[in-house]
Amino acid sequence: MTRTFKLTIASAFLAGAAQAAAMARTTSVKLAEGWEFSRDSTNWVAVTVPHDWAISGPFDREIDKQTVAIEQNGEKTATKKTGRSGSLPWVGEGRYRRKVHLDKGVGYASLVFEGAMSEPEIFWDGRRVGEWKYGYNVFEVELPAAAGEHELEVTLRNLPESSRWYPGAGLIRPVRLVTGPRCGVATFGVFVRTPALQTWEADVAVRNPDGIAVTISNHVKEGNGPYKPWSPEEPNLYTLITEIKDAASGATLDTAETRFGFRTLEYGCEGFKLNGKKRKFKGVCLHHDLGPLGAEWNAAAFRRQVRKLKEIGCDAIRTAHNMPAPEQVAICDEMGMMVMAESFDGWKTPKCKNGYNRFYDEWWRKDLEMLVKVNRSHPSVVMWSIGNEVPEQWSEMGFRHTKAMLEFVHSLDSTRPVTQGMDRWPGPIKSGIAGIMDLNGLNYRLNYYSMARDASRSGIVLGSETASAFSSRGCYYFPPDAIATNDNPHPDGQCSSYDVEYASWANLPDDDRAMQEDNDWVVGEFVWTGFDYLGEPSPYDTYWPSRSSYFGIYDLAGLPKDRAWLYRSYWKRDGRTLHIVPSHWTFPGREGKTTPVYVYTDADSAELFVNGKSQGVRVKAKTSRLDRYRLRWNDIAYEPGELKVVCPDGRTASVRTAGEAAAIKIEGEPFDKRDDLRFFEVTIVDAGGNIVPDAAIPLAFTVSGSAAFKGACNGDATSLEVFTEPKMTTFHGKLVVVVKGERGTLKVSGGGFEDAICHF
Ligand code: GAL
Repeated sequence: MTRTFKLTIASAFLAGAAQAAAMARTTSVKLAEGWEFSRDSTNWVAVTVPHDWAISGPFDREIDKQTVAIEQNGEKTATKKTGRSGSLPWVGEGRYRRKVHLDKGVGYASLVFEGAMSEPEIFWDGRRVGEWKYGYNVFEVELPAAAGEHELEVTLRNLPESSRWYPGAGLIRPVRLVTGPRCGVATFGVFVRTPALQTWEADVAVRNPDGIAVTISNHVKEGNGPYKPWSPEEPNLYTLITEIKDAASGATLDTAETRFGFRTLEYGCEGFKLNGKKRKFKGVCLHHDLGPLGAEWNAAAFRRQVRKLKEIGCDAIRTAHNMPAPEQVAICDEMGMMVMAESFDGWKTPKCKNGYNRFYDEWWRKDLEMLVKVNRSHPSVVMWSIGNEVPEQWSEMGFRHTKAMLEFVHSLDSTRPVTQGMDRWPGPIKSGIAGIMDLNGLNYRLNYYSMARDASRSGIVLGSETASAFSSRGCYYFPPDAIATNDNPHPDGQCSSYDVEYASWANLPDDDRAMQEDNDWVVGEFVWTGFDYLGEPSPYDTYWPSRSSYFGIYDLAGLPKDRAWLYRSYWKRDGRTLHIVPSHWTFPGREGKTTPVYVYTDADSAELFVNGKSQGVRVKAKTSRLDRYRLRWNDIAYEPGELKVVCPDGRTASVRTAGEAAAIKIEGEPFDKRDDLRFFEVTIVDAGGNIVPDAAIPLAFTVSGSAAFKGACNGDATSLEVFTEPKMTTFHGKLVVVVKGERGTLKVSGGGFEDAICHF
């Protein structure tokens, strides 16, 4: 076992003046309460941070209406895109202010902003002390360490046409006050790595303005091992304790704790190996918003997402297309999710006229530096991404920028590969980019995978973005292969849950699965997307009122679409996936009409019964794209009653035709004891407890006790009901209510039913 430490700040050993600070260690506290917020600098309201000023709406089609041709989607003529960035009021300016008290004896003080949307400027006692541009990044602003009460003010501004999706607005992630001694461990100053499974090493950066002589030591809090490796299945974590001592007196000046995990990464012609074992990424791309909470960061809501993703066997997340919130990565460490930590959706060439292109030249280094420094000790982070579908990918300029970024990221962290999601194949081969990336990420374009492998350094490729399938929970159209477009929408602005609709630049989930299964040199995929997100309502980007995506495996409320079981059947081969599509058997008026039935299962075959009558056995077959991973009965004549599927191993699943709506059912979702939010699934059921799948019933929510209503969401991408009022209409029989607080009572009323009450 080796234990080494290195210093990255040479001045740490310089002799100098005695250090004055009396504080023993650097601490960081969240500034959550005590803020006031204003849009006009006149009217101020009390808020807690994180805060997204736009999430309470109202939705308005005029907000950020973009008349553009989306080049990367192959569009040649500009059309009026409504809902592209969510139709919520995020454009404009906002201000936050609060008082901050610094204690006597503080030697160092700073503010760490974990994400401020966007272009934040920071004022301390009226003086401008810092700024950043990119709303997703972490940055630190050093403060004069004078004791007493201070005025902190933060101004933000969001330009129209600065985003391809809903960015949110405001202090969307925590703000921390860091205080400590003058000489101490620099913020984000510890970089711990595990070059082998029982081996660790660490770099420590020290702030030492007086240049005093110090000693630095590191040890693992839990002892000298043997250490258990970190993996998504067993996310074992350890804590590195770093101590800075005065070399002369031996007195401890500062200590820091860094959580890390023992794991090794190998990427090469044998594929991707974690801890020496070959595996493929079963990943999803996620935007930063958390559905009805908007861009307001919340650990409980993200834990819920991870829980749901793990349930279908997902083991990796790509933070599309920007840096993750720091707590997001810590949660991935804890719960076991690998992370592709991404940076940019664009460099110098704009995708949106007011996008990051305005800042790129001056800021890309600063932004990448923070991304890497903040996240490089986390075991969950297994690769960096320098961009997504940047238009420069086919050009000589793109090559130069890629090279500069690769070198820069490697200089900060040589332990992880650098990738980028590229879609303009064979452009990246011609420009030379494909030949210098550590790992070529392909967005869609399955027909270019082998060409990209041949052009690569590593002999492997990654599906950095796959599928882009569209669906809406509970929606079925007949025949199932009618694909919606802007000009030819389904009547309700939804997409089919038969999982046959996908974007023109993309493909079926089944096509990606076949690519993954058939080729050893493909190291995995990141599906677009794990959850629906606000904005980018393809295929309805000119169809109002669509205002959020249809791409998710889960809908915006976090409820599973049928596709969740399709992915589960690929990813979690535990013999427990058996799901019937349609997910209900209630189609009044379709009696006698052809109503196809699909089954998503990890079994190879199954037999279907309608009202006890066999409809035959289906066996998975490579004969067609849709029959390799699905069992399909295309010619079932609908008759009300029971639809049942039986597998050769005896497993069964069934759905029954629902009767009249009779009651409201509330089910609390699982939670972690640290969660400050609770999520409740509300369903309209018939007398037999079956979901009433067409129920669109306005409901009202009352929360009492020490809890409060936080939000509601029904997963309907065309709904203009705001998330933050305690009322909402069920979509296909369901919605989710979010409550802040750990104990209380939720009452759901409406539809003429008896109130449903849940004590928690
Ligand atoms: C990709 C893009 C994503 C999203 C997706 C929709 O080209 O990288 O951000 O727009 O298409 O299919």
